[in-house]
Amino acid sequence: MLDKNSFFIKEIYSWFLKNQRNLPFRNTKNPYKIWIAEIMLQQTRMGSVLNQFENKYAKFIERFPDIQSLAESNLEEVLHYWSGLGYYHRAKNLYITSKILLEKYNGNFPINYKELIELPGIGDYTASAILSIAFDLPYSVFDGNVNRVLFRFFYHTLKPYQITKVKHYAQHLIKELKGKPSIYNQALMEYGALICTPKPKCNLCLISKQCDVFSLSPQEISEIPPRKIKKKQELVFFVYIIKKNNKILIQKSKEGILKNHYFFPYIEVKNFPNSELSLQENKIFLGIIPHSIMHYKIKAYVFITENLKNDLSNLNLDKNENQWIEISKIQNYLYTNFAKKIFRLYILKNKELYFKW
Ligand code: ADE
Repeated sequence: MLDKNSFFIKEIYSWFLKNQRNLPFRNTKNPYKIWIAEIMLQQTRMGSVLNQFENKYAKFIERFPDIQSLAESNLEEVLHYWSGLGYYHRAKNLYITSKILLEKYNGNFPINYKELIELPGIGDYTASAILSIAFDLPYSVFDGNVNRVLFRFFYHTLKPYQITKVKHYAQHLIKELKGKPSIYNQALMEYGALICTPKPKCNLCLISKQCDVFSLSPQEISEIPPRKIKKKQELVFFVYIIKKNNKILIQKSKEGILKNHYFFPYIEVKNFPNSELSLQENKIFLGIIPHSIMHYKIKAYVFITENLKNDLSNLNLDKNENQWIEISKIQNYLYTNFAKKIFRLYILKNKELYFKW
């Protein structure tokens, strides 16, 4: 009989060969294409937005098929192709790293963990993914899915929960692997994404008979490993759509959470009473847009005005890069979901307003 480690590796491995999803980055050994996919996939939970990912990934790869084309483009264009994916500093790091790869490594990746993690935006996860998936080297790729699958199955060995302990175990396990690290690592991630999900699908699980938590109730299993509850910080913004002769003012912020993105002029307001809304002279209140970015939960009160003179003095009009853009061209500048949502509200309300003005 196989020991527990060998049983686990063998079953996960063969399950993947039969059950893996056919995803665009699965049919390649090209480290560039794997790198882009893994950075994009870090944005979100892959299961929930797979369609969006596949679409954006295909377009990105079509426009930037290799390191050289990415390095020789410009950041604005790269950000456009990243549009809607959030975490824009990751797109910027992709761009910077592609330039380093072109200049320092002749347009190739160093096949070496130490050199890889020196590159901007490449940490343990991405370096291990590139080395194992593209080059079949035995580096374990450790994400939330892998952590969950291992901690549950080897619960008696690994408890009490400590993420570093699970990570060490992952690296120890892959040393026992007799097959390909590219397959095994993706198998583990895929098992966590499809079977050993936060709410587990134990009835579909092929290794449940040796799983250390199988005798527990689904509710109990879903709380293993314990989840950190990260409360998002709540912010309130007043956002201004400022019009002049069919143009709208947008700004590229020099600081804050929207740094380097084009956005409408805004201010953060603290503890404002609702009654202040009616005090916003010369402005029309369009509505409220809720939005989440990273660990912030934003409530944006959107106003429209044609009057710049009055009380818009604290909009950092001198601190940021300002541009008056024709309304028909504005979509070329707004690539964050947040800005798009605000603009959509404007479009929706605009017709009604025309009649009032
Ligand atoms: N999640 C992120 N990257 C993945 C991969 N290569 N396979 C399965 N799930 C993933």
